[in-house]
Amino acid sequence: MVYSLAPINTKDYDGTMVVLYGNEVSDRNLPLAKRELEYLKQRREEDSKSIVRFDRLPNHLFVVNFDSEKQAAPCQEQLRRSAAKLVAILDTLKVDTIAVTAEGTLPEEMVAFLEGLTLADYRFDRYKSQAAHHIAKVTIDQAFLKQEELDTNLRLWNRIHWCREWVNTPVADLNAAEFAEQLETIARDMDHVECTVFDKKKIESLRMGGLLAVNRGSVDEPRFVVLEYKPAVAVNAKPVALVGKGIMYDTGGLNIKPGDYMQEMKSDMAGAATMASVLFAAADNQLPVHLVALLPMTDNRPGFNAYAADDILTMYDGTTVEVVNTDAEGRLILADAIAFAVDKYNPELLIDAATLTGAAVRAISTFGIAAMQQNAANPLSLLKVVGEQVYERLVEFPFWEEYDELIKSDMADVKNCGTAQAGTITAGKFLARFAKQTPYIHLDIAGVAYFTKPQHYYATGASGYSIRLLYAFLQTYDLLNKSR
Ligand code: BES
Ligand code: ZN
Ligand code: ZN
Repeated sequence: MVYSLAPINTKDYDGTMVVLYGNEVSDRNLPLAKRELEYLKQRREEDSKSIVRFDRLPNHLFVVNFDSEKQAAPCQEQLRRSAAKLVAILDTLKVDTIAVTAEGTLPEEMVAFLEGLTLADYRFDRYKSQAAHHIAKVTIDQAFLKQEELDTNLRLWNRIHWCREWVNTPVADLNAAEFAEQLETIARDMDHVECTVFDKKKIESLRMGGLLAVNRGSVDEPRFVVLEYKPAVAVNAKPVALVGKGIMYDTGGLNIKPGDYMQEMKSDMAGAATMASVLFAAADNQLPVHLVALLPMTDNRPGFNAYAADDILTMYDGTTVEVVNTDAEGRLILADAIAFAVDKYNPELLIDAATLTGAAVRAISTFGIAAMQQNAANPLSLLKVVGEQVYERLVEFPFWEEYDELIKSDMADVKNCGTAQAGTITAGKFLARFAKQTPYIHLDIAGVAYFTKPQHYYATGASGYSIRLLYAFLQTYDLLNKSR
């Protein structure tokens, strides 16, 4: 999609035009006949979110009604969703060039609409002989948006696009080594970004027992990627660490996933793809926050030498772990990454994102993130507020000490899963012990990273959900320092 800003004269624009239409705005600029205007008002009264189409063959005029009197967040979300509806309509009409203007709209509302349009236009069609229909060209009325604001947002949306591409790509075409190499290539061209890739030998020398155990059934080597974005001026004295689960494919290992439970497990590296994308977006837009991303990567397979239940592993920090189930593999690779982050970077805040538990999906479905925190009540409150604003929402699960009991082991310091109860929390609890005193937020994104059917502006497949959340959080990050 190519975007440009230009003046748009609504009265005699020759092409398909989209007008965002809020409350109590004048209709003097709408190129509508009196009867059409009456029709529009009637449709708007029936449904304040309706999209009304007027034929101007071979073009069309779309009036996108929205409730500008609502609070900012729901209003913007409504515009994102309307944009997704419009994408579907343009799809059927095979329209690929549009101009977008508005009546009395705020820049944030214009941005929200364009965001919905961009995100909804995504299709994973790289493997299709015939590419899907896409919007090719969008001209935006320059009265409603500045070039700089457009560009900043485009850079963010581009990172979401690439996250989705990585997550949607099957493991046969993107294994740990290939993913690491792509991140290295991207980082090489960026300012203030360093990328270090640890190969198997290095991972062995670091004694990352979790990552090595999960990798044992695989024919592909593991990788551990460290990305660092260090701006010239940063609001934080110590880095913020972003840890992402990079299971390139999760078969379950020897505790193999039965039936169709294995499907979609190419998305089990969404946490790593998300965290890399957040760091890149922050660097693209030069956010003044020092970041490190730690991304452990391997697939989880039942090979000849695969790790097994009853194995006892020694992790990077010396903790011993009794393996109860090889399908609880994500926490093993994350534990090493978290312990490594704490040891080497002493971060002021550590956040992980992981498609960690089916239990998270059962608890809250696909409508948000299951979040937990240890020593990070304030950062999580900010994250929650920001989540409502960008509509990538989270709900906090309890982290009571009673849950620690559920993963006590008779044989080792801890076991890698508990009973059938509170599986999302015990997974989080397992990770939290590796964060030690470091303020820690755990985001279980199992429900939102990958959708089997479209959900508004998230197309089928990888969503990139939580990139906008974490980016917006980092944008407002200095608020935390002020409240200290
Ligand atoms: N990758 C899965 C979790 C998952 C499930 C993500 C569904 C997205 C959709 C994870 O590694 C896993 O298999 N978890 C097990 C843990 C259990 C063995 C304690 C689960 O949730 O069943
Ligand atoms: Zn698993
Ligand atoms: Zn997994």
